[in-house]
Amino acid sequence: MKKVKTVFVCTECGANYPSWTGRCISCGQWNTIVEEKPVYSKTRTNITTGNRPKPITSAKEEKHYERISTEIPSLDEALGGGIVTGQVILLSGEPGIGKSTLLLQVASNIARNRKVLYVTGEESAHQVYIRGERIGALNDNLLIMSETNLETIVNAIEDENPDFLVLDSVQTVYSSELESAAGSVSQVREVSAKITEIAKRKNISTIIIGQVTKEGSIAGPKVLEHIVDTVAHFEGERGHSYRVLKIIKNRFGAAGEIAVFSMKDRGLEEVKDPSSFFISERPEGKPGSIIFPFTEGSKPVLVEVQALVSKTVYAVPQRRAQGIDINRLSIILAVLEKEGNIFLKDRDVFVNIVGGMFIKEPAVDLAVALAIVSSFYNTPVDSQMAAFGELGLAGEVRSVHYTEQRIKEAKKFGLNKILIPYNSEVLEEGVIPVRYIKDAIDILRR
Ligand SMILES: Nc1ncnc2c1ncn2[C@@H]1O[C@H](COP(=O)(O)OP(=O)(O)OP(=O)(O)O)[C@@H](O)[C@H]1O
Ligand SMILES: [Mg+2]
Repeated sequence: MKKVKTVFVCTECGANYPSWTGRCISCGQWNTIVEEKPVYSKTRTNITTGNRPKPITSAKEEKHYERISTEIPSLDEALGGGIVTGQVILLSGEPGIGKSTLLLQVASNIARNRKVLYVTGEESAHQVYIRGERIGALNDNLLIMSETNLETIVNAIEDENPDFLVLDSVQTVYSSELESAAGSVSQVREVSAKITEIAKRKNISTIIIGQVTKEGSIAGPKVLEHIVDTVAHFEGERGHSYRVLKIIKNRFGAAGEIAVFSMKDRGLEEVKDPSSFFISERPEGKPGSIIFPFTEGSKPVLVEVQALVSKTVYAVPQRRAQGIDINRLSIILAVLEKEGNIFLKDRDVFVNIVGGMFIKEPAVDLAVALAIVSSFYNTPVDSQMAAFGELGLAGEVRSVHYTEQRIKEAKKFGLNKILIPYNSEVLEEGVIPVRYIKDAIDILRR
């Protein structure tokens, strides 16, 4: 009898190994290797269809791309003008953040004019009904199906021909053709590939929900992110009502766009003016607070950066960062010591991005540095001041993306002392170009 061989797969990156190891050599993660039956693809290669290469000039699509509105303007905008027909979006987020709530709202909005199928593997149809009743998302065109078997789901899609499909979530669905459990790497890969294939073939706009691991990445290999057209991440902080949807990848629009929501009893409410929402509780005349115009896409949002510098009681001073990478903070502190003469060896330093947003872009450096300087000298930052720019190791303030958009957003809120990188070549009223961190510190202390 032929021996059934198993493979060992990394749940983080999808790398394969012939035997178990404690650490994945490919991505460096510990304890992510699991045993699985290999998947042999039966239908993937398609040699006989007569598909031939053609000149790009004749590649204009026979298919017509239409954009479907979610009827949530900021979500449409973040997606580049609505959901394209046949587009497959992966929406990930921590448990309880509001993924099912958001998608039920979107599904019911779209169901006003089109046929929608909401497949849930996590909850019963009645549970979804209760949520729908609470948030006002009940509609006869909105079909609900509580099912975890992929083949049954595919049959339902073939029969019903919906215009819009939600799959909640990819980790709960399994294909009976594979032996591994739902949520395993090969199942997640199979389910998403199958759903994507049917979405493309039948031109169904689809949103797949993906759970996230404790590290915050999408559970299942990176492969999943490559399969879909768009990857969106829904984030927010427990204890805060705000939620931010970030577009991480988009084949039908710009990446980096965001939409901000607030979680209410009646579901997610769009925050039309996120800047005033995030800076609404700013303390007046207190040191350690400065405004940073954040953006990774075309839409900037003002956020407040806070720092607290205090005398330490420990042998090793504390460094804590919320909302920025702690390694980034270490670099900023080293540059402040060397180039700014700010000595923090006996000081604890705490940095916080108010509202709970996590900022990855280096443009936040200058604002973080100035918040620290302000707390260190116990001097409040001018309330009309904002700052952005990346800090180089020599203390230089380096230029960043979207300078004009950031300045415009800051000015909209009456800020007229905006510190920007020297090389940005923007000369207008209210803007102060700074070359080195030292210059910025001088301006702050003046
Ligand atoms: N009755 C209610 N009133 C107000 N808010 C509620 C109510 N019920 C649930 N919520 C909010 O909705 C959130 C759960 O939303 P939802 O089920 O959409 O999250 P999810 O991201 O789909 O979670 P999971 O990953 O567990 O499926 C809760 O954390 C809570 O904030
Ligand atoms: Mg859910």
